[in-house]
Amino acid sequence: MEEKIIGVMGAMPEEIRLLYEKMTDRGEETAAGVTFYTGVLAGRRTVLCCAGMGKVNAACGAQLLITKFGAGALIFSGIAGNMTDKIGVGDVVIGKTLLYHDAERRMIAESWPHLQEFTGDAAMIAAAEAACAEAGVKYIVGKIATGDDFVGDSATKNAIAAKCAPDCVEMEGAAVAHVAAKYGAPCVVLRAMSDNADENAYETLVAKPFDISEYCTTAAKICEGLIGRL
Ligand code: ADE
Repeated sequence: MEEKIIGVMGAMPEEIRLLYEKMTDRGEETAAGVTFYTGVLAGRRTVLCCAGMGKVNAACGAQLLITKFGAGALIFSGIAGNMTDKIGVGDVVIGKTLLYHDAERRMIAESWPHLQEFTGDAAMIAAAEAACAEAGVKYIVGKIATGDDFVGDSATKNAIAAKCAPDCVEMEGAAVAHVAAKYGAPCVVLRAMSDNADENAYETLVAKPFDISEYCTTAAKICEGLIGRL
């Protein structure tokens, strides 16, 4: 049987760079304005990209990984706004369920694959849990809500909590899981909490008490550990 290629999407160019440096047999190719890095990582053929923020950028990157670069499984790694008191800033949510908080889900589900929520692949979630434990990172397996807005005020945060009670909010995960579901490709979304999706969220990211470079190092380690377990 032909080996499955793993597609990795990172939100941060820095994280992709760290993973790229660990790759062997490296190559690169640009499509739709995004650079895709090919090679072998943790013993697996891997394609990496940083596709940009928001649902369309994420969906386009995910589709190219599958259709142009032959990825048979997708990993998305990035940051998110925390919506639960089970964890705090720096901890990780591994997506068991992913959904859009800003979309008419019933109408979208009229098209294939007829889903209002998407799911992370059980084996990839188990591998992600093991990789987080090995990296010494606190994590939960939970619900991720995706929308095209950055959530940075309590009223919006509370409205999203009332609508779908997610553990965190971000801007790409459900779009990646949606494209993966269309193609029957397993996927997993990992999110490190960078802020609490409230009035301090934007400031927290811009003022950087959340250390992006430290996060990227940890995220790259988790991704490599995850790929090695697939
Ligand atoms: N990514 C990181 N923090 C976020 C937030 N508060 N809202 C949306 N996406 C995010």
